[in-house]
Amino acid sequence: MKIIMLGAPGAGKGTQAKMIAKEYGLPHVSTGDIFRANIKNGTQLGMEAKKYMDQGLLVPDELTVRILLDRVSQADCANGYVLDGFPRTIPQAEVLEEALNKLGDRIDYAIDVDVPDENIIKRMSGRRACLTCGATYHIEHIPPKKEGICDVCGSKLVLRDDDKAETVKNRLEVYHKQTQPLIDFYTRKGVLRTVDGTLPMDEVFQAIRKILD
Ligand code: AP5
Repeated sequence: MKIIMLGAPGAGKGTQAKMIAKEYGLPHVSTGDIFRANIKNGTQLGMEAKKYMDQGLLVPDELTVRILLDRVSQADCANGYVLDGFPRTIPQAEVLEEALNKLGDRIDYAIDVDVPDENIIKRMSGRRACLTCGATYHIEHIPPKKEGICDVCGSKLVLRDDDKAETVKNRLEVYHKQTQPLIDFYTRKGVLRTVDGTLPMDEVFQAIRKILD
């Protein structure tokens, strides 16, 4: 099964993608996590991506597409995957479609986690992320067992650089301009499904399970 998660920054795509990955035994492929791992390791890709991410802008398509196609061609993705944060532009969606067409394959579901802008800023300021293993928490909704420490790997949790209020506003603008058109794109393909992302995360997941089962 090949699934795409759509939704505004902070809508809960990553949270749900991890739950889907666990439940259905699929790899969770997040372009944001790939970029953040590269930033942490000081690679050239990371330094290039950081210039855009810190301003709330999208990393250029050429760079992002190459990384994504390389990742999904790895053996663990042979039977499907959950894409989180890709595609984010129509050209990215077209490249993915073309690559899948060549394999006689297609996306099964594009799940839009729908959350209005007014809920987003509050969520982002409360998010804490582990830059070592990619786990995310929320200081109110999903707190770690020990404050400031990742339950999974014991690393220190941080407020992501791009989760500061001003950058979140830019990311929302970029989302509406460049990513929201994908809702129409996947509606036309007949694979779009929408879930209410304002519900508690377990209820959001139940709605997704109903779609996937
Ligand atoms: P990326 O990491 O993909 O960020 P994003 O899309 O902005 O999404 P987020 O990770 O911020 O949010 P999310 O929807 O996953 O929400 P989460 O589950 O964490 O990308 C970062 C940057 O990388 C981009 O800005 C761009 O520069 C670059 N990039 C990445 N991919 C790219 C691409 N394809 N092309 C170009 N550039 C790219 O949840 C948010 C918070 O809410 C958490 O604290 C969570 O615990 C909490 N929460 C989740 N669900 C609920 C719920 N139901 N109720 C209450 N709280 C909840």
